[in-house]
Amino acid sequence: PRCAWTADVRLLVCDRPDEVAVAAAAIIAAAAPAVLGVATGSTTEAIHRELVERRGVGTDTVLALLDEYLDLPVGHPQRYRAVVERQLVRPLGLRTDRLIGPDVDALDPHRAAISYEAELVRRGGVDLQVLGIGRNAHIGFNEPGSPFESRTRVVALAATTRSDNARFFANAESVPQRVITQGIATVLEARSLLLVATGPAKAPALAAMLDGSPTVDVPASALCAHPDLTVVADRAALAAVQSRTLMEMT
Ligand code: F6R
Repeated sequence: PRCAWTADVRLLVCDRPDEVAVAAAAIIAAAAPAVLGVATGSTTEAIHRELVERRGVGTDTVLALLDEYLDLPVGHPQRYRAVVERQLVRPLGLRTDRLIGPDVDALDPHRAAISYEAELVRRGGVDLQVLGIGRNAHIGFNEPGSPFESRTRVVALAATTRSDNARFFANAESVPQRVITQGIATVLEARSLLLVATGPAKAPALAAMLDGSPTVDVPASALCAHPDLTVVADRAALAAVQSRTLMEMT
């Protein structure tokens, strides 16, 4: 088989990025979560395409945004709500009220962040949270230094994240400075986590996450404390992980 499961930590190693997308979509479809936590970016876009193809999300599913930009005008196509509407909601024929996220147009974004936490609780919590990983090992937009106890809140994006996301905007200066992100503690409350990573640019982040002990300098390292974490990655993204670590996972 091209993808090999390793026991215990549930690491699924794939040869190619498209296989990561197919495998992740299959995991999501099989889990049939009532509340699916969704992330944006290139890695998850490929998964969303697969999910649409296989109609892997039921029409009763609630989609919950992991994070959202502040300071973009209403109707801006790079708002994550707009992105997920394009990638999942419309192609799957879901009702737009099935997609929830923080109210980034509220006068007080700090209060909007707290309200979003309350809404997640009201919806019964996130069953399965899909996560990408930043080059700096951020999860959601919990940048390095984010406390593991952090909750949903307003944060400033790291300079590297703004330059990484410049590809979705006219230039790096147009990338918003601020976002609302679920906190690390919030993410850890999801019943299951699915972290996906592809390509050599993610290799240092995955190695820092999996090889070392948990530290706030590597936000993704907090996930190792979760009892139900699956990592799906291609060989390029896993290239810097110590073979001893990979063997311990088997
Ligand atoms: C986006 C998010 C981010 C991305 C991460 C990887 O909603 O939460 O943490 O998942 O930056 O992005 P890509 O897949 O574009 O490399």
